[in-house]
Amino acid sequence: MTQHLTAPAHTRDSTRPGWWRDAVIYQVYPRSFADGNGDGMGDLKGVRDRLPYLKDLGVDAVWLSPFYASPQADAGYDVADYRAIDPMFGSLLDADALIRDAHALGLRIIVDLVPNHSSDRHEWFKRALREGPGSPLRARYHFRPGKGKNGELPPNDWESIFGGPAWTRTEDGEWYLHLFAPEQPDFNWEHPAVADEFRSILRFWLDMGVDGFRVDVAHGLIKADGLPDLGGHDQLKLLGNDVMPFFDQDGVHAIYRSWRKILDEYPGERIAVAEAWTPTVERTANYVRPDELHQAFNFQYLGTAWDAVELRAVIDLSLDAMRPVGAPATWVLSNHDVTRHATRFANPAGLGTQIRTAGDRELGLRRARAATLLMLALPGSAYLYQGEELGLPDVTDLPDEVRQDPSFFRAAGQDGFRDGCRVPIPWTVDGPSYGFGSGGSWLPQPDSWAALSVEAQTGDPGSTLELYRSALAVRRARPELGAGDAVEWLDAPDGVLVLRRGGFVCVANTTSEPVTLPAYGQLLLASSTVRVDGDAAEVPADTTAWWAV
Ligand code: GLC
Repeated sequence: MTQHLTAPAHTRDSTRPGWWRDAVIYQVYPRSFADGNGDGMGDLKGVRDRLPYLKDLGVDAVWLSPFYASPQADAGYDVADYRAIDPMFGSLLDADALIRDAHALGLRIIVDLVPNHSSDRHEWFKRALREGPGSPLRARYHFRPGKGKNGELPPNDWESIFGGPAWTRTEDGEWYLHLFAPEQPDFNWEHPAVADEFRSILRFWLDMGVDGFRVDVAHGLIKADGLPDLGGHDQLKLLGNDVMPFFDQDGVHAIYRSWRKILDEYPGERIAVAEAWTPTVERTANYVRPDELHQAFNFQYLGTAWDAVELRAVIDLSLDAMRPVGAPATWVLSNHDVTRHATRFANPAGLGTQIRTAGDRELGLRRARAATLLMLALPGSAYLYQGEELGLPDVTDLPDEVRQDPSFFRAAGQDGFRDGCRVPIPWTVDGPSYGFGSGGSWLPQPDSWAALSVEAQTGDPGSTLELYRSALAVRRARPELGAGDAVEWLDAPDGVLVLRRGGFVCVANTTSEPVTLPAYGQLLLASSTVRVDGDAAEVPADTTAWWAV
C-alpha cells in the first residue's frame, strides 16, 4: 500500500529558467496512447484530448515518438516527409493545436527527430534510385558498388541492427547502406545538402513552437572514413555499447554544435536530448558539452539491475561524468525499445533489456514502484514511458501473427520483443479497448489490464498511478529533489541505499527482507507501507521511502 502523508501543491512552472535541468519528461508513443478517431491506432487528437491527464499527473514535458508521414516500416522511425504528419496520426493543424493546448496547460512539447536515416519512400531516396548510379542524388545516401566479380557481395561486412546485412542491392546493381531495416537508408551526413536540410527541418518545428527534439540514433550520423570492415568484431545487438565504425564517431559533434546555435536563437530554452549509445558515460557526456545538446539518455542506468551496489555505482558514475560538462544527469527506466521495468524486475537480473518471460509480476511491480521513487529522487531530469505510471507489465505472450516490430521479422529471435511494451494503454475498466478508442486496438490488450486502467486506479491510494501522482507532486513542491549535480550517501546496511539532498532523504531497500533504519524525519511517501515506531522505521523488502528532515 502506498503511503502519501502530504499533498503538496504544484509550485513549479515550466517556463522557469533552466526548466529542462530537472524536468520530468513523459514519453508518448502516439500509436498506443489514445485513439481519437476510432481506427484502432492512436493519434494526435487522442493525445490532445488527454493532455489534462498528463498535466494532472504532474509532468513538465511530453516527448512524442515520430508522427511524421511514414510507410511505418519501423513504426514511424522511417520518415518519408519530415514536415508532414502521417494521415493516420492527423494533420499539421492537429499538431499545431496540440502544441498550443499543451502550452496553455504549462506543458512543454518535445518531438522526435530522425536524422540518421529516412524512409526508402522519402523523395530524395526515390529520386536517387530512379536516377541511377553516378547521380549526384545518390551522394546524399551511402550507395556503393558491391564486391566480388560481379559486385554480388555487399560493400562491407556490416550487419543491420535489426538483423541481416546492412546493405541492400538495388535493381541497377549498386548497394545502399541501412543500419536498420532496408526501408531505412542511412543519410550521408558528409553531404552539405543533408546538413542544410536538417537545419531547415529544425527551424520548421521550432517555428511551429516545439520546445525541443529527441534526436534518434544521435551517435550514428557519421561513419568512419572508407566504411571499414568490422573484421572479426562481434556484430551488434540492438544498440549495444561497443565501439563501431558507424557509431560515436567524433565527427557527429560538429553537427550538434551547429544545431545548438539554432536552438539558442529561439526564445524559451528549446532543448535537444540525444539517443546516443556509447561505450562509456564519458563518451556520452561529449554530446552534452555546453555548445552541443542539452541532455543525453542514460542507458547505463536503464540497464542496471535492482541492486544497491550496482545502482550506487551507476548513479555516481553518471553524476561524475556529467559534472565536468555542466549538463544535468538524466534517468530512465523504460521506453518503447526495451522490456518495461515492471517486467525486467520480475525476472532474474542479468537477462538484459529484452525479456521474453512474464516472471513474478507482483515482485516486478513492487520493485518497479521502488525503482521509480529512487529515480525521481536523483538530481537531474527523469524520463517516464507511457503506461509505467499504471505499473503496466510487458505483454510477453503476443502471438507472432500480430507482431509488427521489424526486428522480429529480421532477427530470428535476437530482439523483436519491442511490441510487448507498445501495447495500447488502458484508460477505462470497460469498453472494447479499455478506453483507448472506440475501434479496438492495433495490438491486443490482456484482459488483466481492466484492473490497471487509469479509471480503476484513480483515487485508489494504493495504486501505482496515485503513487506517481504523489511522487511528482512532492518533486514539484520540493525542488531539491531534482536540483544540483550530487548526492550525499549516508551509511546504510548492505543492500540499502540512503541518500540525502538538502532537507530530503531517500531510502531504498533493494533486499528481499525488511530493514530497520532510523526514522529520518517526516515520512513523505513510500512505495509500500513503512512502519514508524518512535525513532525507528521498518522499511519492507523492495521499498523506497522519502523523508523530509
Ligand atoms: C531508435 C528508436 C527505435 C528505432 C531506431 C531506428 O533506436 O528508438 O525505435 O527502431 O532508432 O530509427
